[in-house]
Amino acid sequence: MRNSIIAGTGSYVPDNIVSNDDLSKIMDTNDEWISSRTGIKNRCISIEENTSDLAYEAGLKAIKNAGMTAEDIDLIIVSTITPDMQMPSVSCMVQKKLGAVNASAFDVSAACSGFIYAVDIADSMIRCGRHNNVLVIGAEVLSKSVNWSDRSTAVLFGDGAGAAVLKADDNKKGILYALTAAEGDKGQYLEMEEKPVISPFSNNKGTNINKFITMDGKQVLRFSTRVIVDAVKEVLEKTDESIDDIAYIIPHQANYRIIDYAAHKLNVDCSKFYLNIRDYGNTSSASIAIALDEAFRKNKVKKGDKVILVGFGGGLTYGAILVEI
Ligand code: ACO
Repeated sequence: MRNSIIAGTGSYVPDNIVSNDDLSKIMDTNDEWISSRTGIKNRCISIEENTSDLAYEAGLKAIKNAGMTAEDIDLIIVSTITPDMQMPSVSCMVQKKLGAVNASAFDVSAACSGFIYAVDIADSMIRCGRHNNVLVIGAEVLSKSVNWSDRSTAVLFGDGAGAAVLKADDNKKGILYALTAAEGDKGQYLEMEEKPVISPFSNNKGTNINKFITMDGKQVLRFSTRVIVDAVKEVLEKTDESIDDIAYIIPHQANYRIIDYAAHKLNVDCSKFYLNIRDYGNTSSASIAIALDEAFRKNKVKKGDKVILVGFGGGLTYGAILVEI
């Protein structure tokens, strides 16, 4: 049976750290409000590097940690909602920077669930025999799409990238189960960079275009708390696993309160969830991948451990993956 295993991971964040106190100097906010509602203390904000630069650095580390070279990679999938430009894709830019001449490349847009979607696609491509070594990257420079005069969203987000190399393996199990889902009827609760039809032939004059991230926080909170619990339960049910057999749940790092609620509903201690939101804020597509890499580097997960990755966000979308490390 041909499976796909995680052969290596990597991550990269810009070195410019912005604290809650730093933010309080440029907007009407404070550390107490941000920490108590979200769990965020710091985030990394890019000064010059764009999404493809972060993606390249994370991808390079993942390839190295997998014991491969760029030429070994036969597919690159980048999940991002903040590409350098609409075309070429970030994945093609990364292919060029890496010199991954044997890889095909495309981007996936599923916001904070994007890394889960991308790993699911990579796993399917490997299982069906189409590809052998797939580089999956979640990368975002959200700071260029944040409305810095809107304190209700500006304090939440950060920049970064995380990556994993998935490799075909006939013996080890690797990815055991994946689910992805979408509730497009709720898309209006989390929007970014509207692109209306404007041309000499349209009636649209281009006024009131939303260029930034806008969010109905309460609706997104309601959705996120529901689907994170449902997704983890579905993974456990479909694979006949007990939550006690899971070493870690690595969730999308959106808000500590969402995790606290999920832990309560799943009847587990919060320590079952790997959290680093304190240091990075919400990095959308990148967050699960950064956390996964960090968990490896800190030896929080070891060979044979079963780990659930779970994401939720814009679309609205969600997804979860059970992987044996
Ligand atoms: N600093 C200080 N005060 C603020 C700030 C800020 N940064 N932002 C908002 N406030 C004020 C508001 O103006 C409001 O004041 P008012 O009562 O005088 O009008 C008050 O704080 C409460 O505002 P709410 O928006 O009601 O705050 P709430 O308690 O709902 O928390 C939050 C907001 C943290 C965003 C919450 O809705 C939430 O957790 N939502 C989940 C969504 C999420 O995590 N999104 C992340 C991105 S999406 C994703 O990744 C899935």
